[in-house]
Amino acid sequence: MHPMLTTAVKAARRAGSIINRAAQNLDLLQVSRKAHNDFVSEVDGAAEEAIIKVLLGAYPDHSILAEESGARGTSEYQWIIDPLDGTTNFLHGFPHYSVSIALMHRGVPTQGVVYNPSANELFTASRGQGAYLNDRRLRVSKRAQLGDCLIGTGFPFREFSHAPAYLAIFQDIMPKVAGIRRPGSAALDLAYLAAGRYDGFWEMGLSPWDIAAGCLLITEAGGLLGDLEGNATHMQTGNLLAGNPRIFAQLLQMIAPHLEKMPAPRRPADG
Ligand code: IPD
Ligand code: CA
Ligand code: CA
Repeated sequence: MHPMLTTAVKAARRAGSIINRAAQNLDLLQVSRKAHNDFVSEVDGAAEEAIIKVLLGAYPDHSILAEESGARGTSEYQWIIDPLDGTTNFLHGFPHYSVSIALMHRGVPTQGVVYNPSANELFTASRGQGAYLNDRRLRVSKRAQLGDCLIGTGFPFREFSHAPAYLAIFQDIMPKVAGIRRPGSAALDLAYLAAGRYDGFWEMGLSPWDIAAGCLLITEAGGLLGDLEGNATHMQTGNLLAGNPRIFAQLLQMIAPHLEKMPAPRRPADG
């Protein structure tokens, strides 16, 4: 394993044990609201601090972009961190959430970890070296017929300017696929796609920390991704479509007629 990935895994596991411990005593948690439907607990902050401590302990010159504490440092190496992706699930005792850590080198994702602490599933990828779930090499699914496909998504729930386009896409896709799932952790959704558990995924208004690690998992597992037009702006716009190579173009085609309903300009996500 690449030493930088080993460090990221150590950081993710540290955060995971903080999260697992807190999950046993949810009633004791201090929770506050960042914005409408945007909850944050002391666990998000504690997990983030633990991650940053491990990363900067090993690589003090690297820079950081983390959901709760923002950006610090300047370096050609930048760690992008979501200490707890799926906070709403976590707060409800719904055991589906993750820690997401990615390393960008000159803007290119090179290492990625998505860790589900309640299932002890560790998804990792290094650029050019493939994606893994624990010790098992991952490949995206081979399904080619939309009618056989399970598609993951995330509903708008904080910021609703995307809702008209989202719902039109949803209505079009729903009857053509085997099923749609909205489990509530975008980072884990992308890891599931890399593992072949989903065949496709779309969401709008995501933040870089939601997707940086998951996108590397998908490309290393042989999947395709982009914004909803298939262009590589997903890290800036937060609008993401991903899929196995057999259905990606079919999904793009289904989405295209609805893009005129997108808010203009299609601005980067703010939360
Ligand atoms: C959220 C989760 C959710 C997705 C949202 C994200 P958070 O992250 O990934 O699945 O639909 O867009 O913001 O706030 O729980 O870290
Ligand atoms: Ca998140
Ligand atoms: Ca989060």
